[in-house]
Amino acid sequence: MPSGARTVHLSKVYGSGNMAVRALDEVSVEFPAGRFTAIMGPSGAGKSTLMHCVAGLEGATSGKVYVGDQELGVLSDRRLTRLRRERIGFVFQAFNLLPTLTARDNITLPMTLAGTAPDQEWFTTVVRVLHLGERLSHRPSELSGGQQQRVALARALVTRPQIVFADEPTGNLDSRTGAEVLDLLRGAVDDLGQTVAMVTHDPVAAGHADAVVFLADGRIVDIMQAPTPDRVLDRMRGLGDQS
Ligand SMILES: Nc1ncnc2c1ncn2[C@@H]1O[C@H](COP(=O)(O)OP(=O)(O)OP(=O)(O)O)[C@@H](O)[C@H]1O
Ligand SMILES: [Mg+2]
Repeated sequence: MPSGARTVHLSKVYGSGNMAVRALDEVSVEFPAGRFTAIMGPSGAGKSTLMHCVAGLEGATSGKVYVGDQELGVLSDRRLTRLRRERIGFVFQAFNLLPTLTARDNITLPMTLAGTAPDQEWFTTVVRVLHLGERLSHRPSELSGGQQQRVALARALVTRPQIVFADEPTGNLDSRTGAEVLDLLRGAVDDLGQTVAMVTHDPVAAGHADAVVFLADGRIVDIMQAPTPDRVLDRMRGLGDQS
């Protein structure tokens, strides 16, 4: 089952010379197994970059990334692609569902691409937990925003990834649906033992996590355990985040 992820002195520089942007500067952070970690910080702080590097979507400039015990930097492209497919789940703000596929086929898409069959029992569990049983034959256009978000989450969970990354998963949703998605992420951690890392600008959303990692200018400036929305808001004000 999930074993978390971590970085050791991870730096990411985009461009070179005068144009170089140090998006991440020696970041050492852990996303512990079976825990829900939120990532916060001002726009441009490096939150998405951190997620992309830990998820193996972008290479590090220096430092190391581990998913479970596996260091990503030593993998060939082919093995990295396989690890991403089999051990990492993503939920992006724009759900990235394929419009011509039913909910069922969207959920099992990672496995279709990998040429493997879904574990039927696990598929049924994920669909039940996410209340999608009645919606499996619908196409995305026939689903509400919250239902589409749940299909995207099911797709991220169905491969039993070691870690799920969600980049502002509630950013586009009305507050009720957003709360539903946060409850589902929380439930995936509590009931399914999932490891979750979520970028958010919303102190209420961060209040659902077990810990909040605060980034500013590519560095970790604080880690808060057992966050509450009020404490998160105070800390964000301290960082000058107006968002
Ligand atoms: N592909 C890229 N090429 C060059 N610079 C980049 C690239 N991606 C990100 N950056 C820069 O790296 C820094 C961190 O960007 P990142 O997207 O990680 O910020 P963020 O914390 O996710 O911000 P937001 O809250 O606005 O999404 C920014 O200065 C950004 O301009
Ligand atoms: Mg971002």
